[in-house]
Amino acid sequence: MAATNKIDGLVDGTNEKQKGPDLPTELRDELEKLEQQFYVDRKKLKQISERFQQELEEGLQDHGKNIAMYVTWVLGFPTGKEKGDFLTLDLGGTNLRVCWINLRGNEHEIGIKQQSYKMPDSIKTGDASSLWSFIASSLQTFISDHSLNGAFSNPLNLGFTFSYPAIQDYIDQGILQTWTKGFDIKGVEGEDVASQLRSAISDLNLPVSLVAVVNDTTGAMIASSYHDPKTIIGAIFGTGCNAAYMDKISNIPKINSSDEIKKLDPETPMAINCEYGAFDNARNVLPLTKYDEQIDATSPRPGEQAFEKTSAGLYLGEIFRLIILDLHSRNIIFKDQDISKLQSPYTIDTSLLSNIEDDDTPDLSDSGNEFKATFNITMTQPELQFTRALAKLIAVRGARLCATGIAAICRHQKISSGHVAADGSVANKHPKFKKRWGRALGEILDWSEADREENDESGEGDESQKGPIVLTSAEDGSGVGAAVIAAMTLERWGKGQKAGIKGSGRE
Ligand code: BGC
Repeated sequence: MAATNKIDGLVDGTNEKQKGPDLPTELRDELEKLEQQFYVDRKKLKQISERFQQELEEGLQDHGKNIAMYVTWVLGFPTGKEKGDFLTLDLGGTNLRVCWINLRGNEHEIGIKQQSYKMPDSIKTGDASSLWSFIASSLQTFISDHSLNGAFSNPLNLGFTFSYPAIQDYIDQGILQTWTKGFDIKGVEGEDVASQLRSAISDLNLPVSLVAVVNDTTGAMIASSYHDPKTIIGAIFGTGCNAAYMDKISNIPKINSSDEIKKLDPETPMAINCEYGAFDNARNVLPLTKYDEQIDATSPRPGEQAFEKTSAGLYLGEIFRLIILDLHSRNIIFKDQDISKLQSPYTIDTSLLSNIEDDDTPDLSDSGNEFKATFNITMTQPELQFTRALAKLIAVRGARLCATGIAAICRHQKISSGHVAADGSVANKHPKFKKRWGRALGEILDWSEADREENDESGEGDESQKGPIVLTSAEDGSGVGAAVIAAMTLERWGKGQKAGIKGSGRE
């Protein structure tokens, strides 16, 4: 008998039960059990999002709360007229990207030169000095390869995208609170990453001056708003997950007594880096499975980033792998096959999940070939069907959960329309993410079908672009965004508006 999987109909918002894959009883029963654990219905989404809003608001109220809500000292959106030449650095998961960006005061004319430097894996779990010397020497290579020394302003102004939770008492400072996304570098937590980078730069005598430390979410929001005034939020759905938005200083009670803040009008807008990957670290509302618990327990920082571990790209493939290992150990899947290649943690990339879901060969032969080539596993037809349904379950849960955080920000800010500028591998590379995310957002915010149809941004019935709030592809946050933020900071400094700028070396 063919199984009917709830997931097939519900995810696409049709609320129809569609025919699921035709599976033998054993696999079908397992799939149904997994569906029960992974499918997050509308009621639960709303409950999660309500709690999310409370945690966001607690973070604005007091320091040291679970969702940190860091002030970033990015005071308002750019005008689009920002000018200047900037170096930018982006410390990503696998690469370090260095850019030379020329802002010409016209959002349509931006010059970019860029280079990525492969970061040795050992750095991620090494020590601070290896990290900073790798960064400084990459910067040195870039400056020399592009003949930047002496040719432009001296020193060269730098915007540093550092996408980890960091307290910023000033825009040119960032005290790392905890590593996330599998990083575990000794000697950086509790320290100011800006001064560590400055000292590595000075060890090499580089003509570089660090102007701003920028979170990737803030960078995405600012780079996108430089072109698109409808931008309301910058969000990353990638290796990690997080968002930034603009709030008024008077809405951030925890900073009232800060001397730097007292220099500003309470109506001044301030970009907030939410750091909401930590949502529900107390584990009250998230629908966590035993696989989520396993990921947490074996991560470098158990108990942290509870929300991120259910929905971000780094973890989706790992959840899939743990389920497969569990089923194999119970002799339900890949019977009598050597699955040793699946034994190492984090060997499954999110792209494999999206490839399986996207496979339109009639017998899923592309997926079969990929599994054979990567893991030396020969899959039966039912196993292929099952893994496809599993990949979908995990990706759908991730996309739906990702909507709860953005809905919470929108409700907190009473935002009813606009663009959420999104970046990251899941948003960009998972073909169905945007549509699923948009549907879930509408379920939480109670959009009617008419709300969705009347606001079809694509004008062509593209499901991912329907609704008053839609995901757009963010502009280059860690390049252009960091450069625009550095330009805004220098402009303020030049006008003597120095609130939240330490200005080391500029006095
Ligand atoms: C970090 C955030 C970052 C997000 C997306 C999280 O793990 O804590 O700072 O914005 O990943 O890269």
